[in-house]
Amino acid sequence: MDDFDFPILINAFYLLAAVLIFLGLKRLGSPATAREGNRIAALGMLIAVVVTLLDREIVRFEIIVAGVVVGAAIGGVFARAIRMTAMPQLVALFNGFGGAGSAVVAAAEYLRLADGGGEVPLDVSVTIMLGTLVGLVTFSGSIIAFGKLQELIDGKPITYPLQKTVSAVVFLAIVGVIVYLVAGGDPVAYYGLIALCLILGLLLVIPIGGADMPVVISLLNSYSGIAAAMAGFALGNVMLIIAGALVGAAGLILTQIMIKAMNRSLANVLFGAFGAEASGSMTESAEEKVVREATPEDAAVAMAYSGSAILVPGYGLAVARAQHQLKEVGELLEARGVDVRYAIHPVAGRMPGHMNVLLAEADVPYDKLYDLDEINDRFPDTDFVLVIGANDVVNPAARDEQGSPIYGMPILEVDKSRQVLVLKRSLNPGFAGLDNELFYKENTMMLFGDAQDSLTRVIGEIKEL
Ligand code: TAP
Repeated sequence: MDDFDFPILINAFYLLAAVLIFLGLKRLGSPATAREGNRIAALGMLIAVVVTLLDREIVRFEIIVAGVVVGAAIGGVFARAIRMTAMPQLVALFNGFGGAGSAVVAAAEYLRLADGGGEVPLDVSVTIMLGTLVGLVTFSGSIIAFGKLQELIDGKPITYPLQKTVSAVVFLAIVGVIVYLVAGGDPVAYYGLIALCLILGLLLVIPIGGADMPVVISLLNSYSGIAAAMAGFALGNVMLIIAGALVGAAGLILTQIMIKAMNRSLANVLFGAFGAEASGSMTESAEEKVVREATPEDAAVAMAYSGSAILVPGYGLAVARAQHQLKEVGELLEARGVDVRYAIHPVAGRMPGHMNVLLAEADVPYDKLYDLDEINDRFPDTDFVLVIGANDVVNPAARDEQGSPIYGMPILEVDKSRQVLVLKRSLNPGFAGLDNELFYKENTMMLFGDAQDSLTRVIGEIKEL
């Protein structure tokens, strides 16, 4: 195979595409430049695709064009129709199909070479096998992740006796079949390999709770990149190797950021069956505690007459789609001379950057957004904190209760401010299923109801003042 023997021009275009993708990724680092970054990276990918189509011996362009049209139509409809809160499961599906795509490329290459009857070079057959393994595990694992998030399957970790042993046996069987095939065994065994890989993906993801799916998805995203890079090696396509390696690395970094922000280990996420116990209900003692309920008028007065306010959005903001009302509250307070800032926790919501995306949609200026590290010192000097549908990311148990499952997770220390108002529908727990002492503190008021309704009423009251 003289795969790397591309004409200079083709490689120059691949280099250009790779540089554009790098530049695009760099610009994704800040909300202010993220859209432009996305466009630059998309241009890089377009160049890569066009050059590959022109360079390679393409089967038939009609089929490719039909695929592009159908795929773009499906993608376009999904992108418009899917709600922000359903984005994690959409990403799970996309990852799954990415993994399946790489596995199909690997399988096609293997069957072509096997049919040819000639000797398959060792490096090519090993990368084909690894591409098949990683691609199919990504596919079936992502489908399970999708099912859990979409509540088609029970979101609780599904555990059974000897679970890790069963997974280990399947994995060893896969290694055995791969060694057999690489050593020149009967290609029919390849179909057995496909079945075993699909089963392994399923076995690896069912014991993980729906709560941990965003981390799993990020990890599977990384796997899909690795599978693509493997396919790139099998085909001798430099661009596929670069793009796959980037996705693989980016997915791993994101996984790392998420587990750090939750103070968990990857092993705990993958094998800890977090969320298996129903710890979601309030304890008896919690029911006896005093909750200070506020009216929209109380809330408006407390906010409007404060000198400084920090607004803390969480998952409930996304559910209520209240970002525009939140922005309006911020503007009304500023107009009254209040110093307004927004505090963003790295895992607030259900996907990385969830709150940034919502606030950007409402055109909240980026310079008003502060990360956890930048804002935590400010809470003790802040008059008023408005918590909108956030729960775990402001739960003091993570700081104070050694036995808590979230102990050690960095939180926004809103309880240190002079006055806190929490907007949510009930005292129910959030994602981690834990009661929250913040709701019973003396300096906390609760305004119960859908966040959009509550904010609308508060806006009305502020305007009356
Ligand atoms: P959560 O702790 O999940 O709490 C969200 C709260 O929003 C709920 O307690 C709920 O209370 C309230 N809510 C829901 N719908 C509402 C509505 N329409 N109006 C008002 N309130 C509403 O959210 P969080 O504080 O953002 O924390 C995120 C959690 O997700 C963390 O535990 C984090 O570890 C986990 N997680 C996040 C990620 C990423 S990357 N973001 C990844 C994995 C895990 P009511 O039902 O009483 O209204």
